[in-house]
This record gives sequence, C-alpha cells and structure tokens, in this order.
Amino acid sequence: MIGRLNHVAIATRDIASAAAVYRQTLGAQVSDPVPQPDHGVTTVFVDLPNTKIELLEPLGANSPIAKFLEKNPSGGVHHVCYEVDDIHAAVAQMKAKGATITGSGEPKIGAHGKPVVFLHPKDFVGTLIELEQR
Ligand code: CO
Repeated sequence: MIGRLNHVAIATRDIASAAAVYRQTLGAQVSDPVPQPDHGVTTVFVDLPNTKIELLEPLGANSPIAKFLEKNPSGGVHHVCYEVDDIHAAVAQMKAKGATITGSGEPKIGAHGKPVVFLHPKDFVGTLIELEQR
C-alpha cells in the first residue's frame, strides 16, 4: 500500500540552529522558516535528491510536538511520511488491520496542502507514521 518516502520530520526547539546544521555542516539546500499556525509548528524544508527532511519547531501554546520535545529535549526524529494513492482507501485498510489513527481518524489537510492521517506509533515499531495522498 505505501509508496515513496515523502519526508522524515525532525523536531527541534531551535529551528534556526537546526537549519544551520543542515545548510552549513551538511551542505544541503534549506528553505526559509514557514510559520504554519494551523498546524502548531514552524517548518523548514531540506531538499534532498530522493526525499525531504522537514524540520519542525513548536508554534503557539498547543503545538502537537510540545510533548515530544519534553521527552526529547535535544530534538529527534518525530515521524516518517509515506505516500499513498488514495487516503480514504488507506484509512479503511488501516482500520481493517486494527491500527490506531490519531485524532478524529479522518484525513486532514497537512502541512503540504494534501490530505494526511497519522498512525499511532504503538502499532508501527514505535514510530509515528504520516500517510499523505500523492
Ligand atoms: Co510530516
């Protein structure tokens, strides 16, 4: 069912220094920070030849990554995002397999303007998974 790796998301308390690590130390192509108030994060995109890295910094009081950063104060891999052809078919398949979809369980428009759902890490080797419609 899953297709290409769309991105790996890394949470950080300091997106400016995280961006500098990717731009200066690792020599990657790095975007400017983009505040995404609807998603409670500020994002920086790192373009790699075969995928993207998404750097995330909490934005506002109820950021979805706040708890993760309490547990992981120096930051870390927050989720991986796989592409699917049909988000509704993917949701149906995940429900049939007994996987837990976070939040309402229905697709929402994600940070890239496409429908996404998140799958609870407890069912997926301890890793939060985002499914994004291609
Ligand atoms: Co993501």
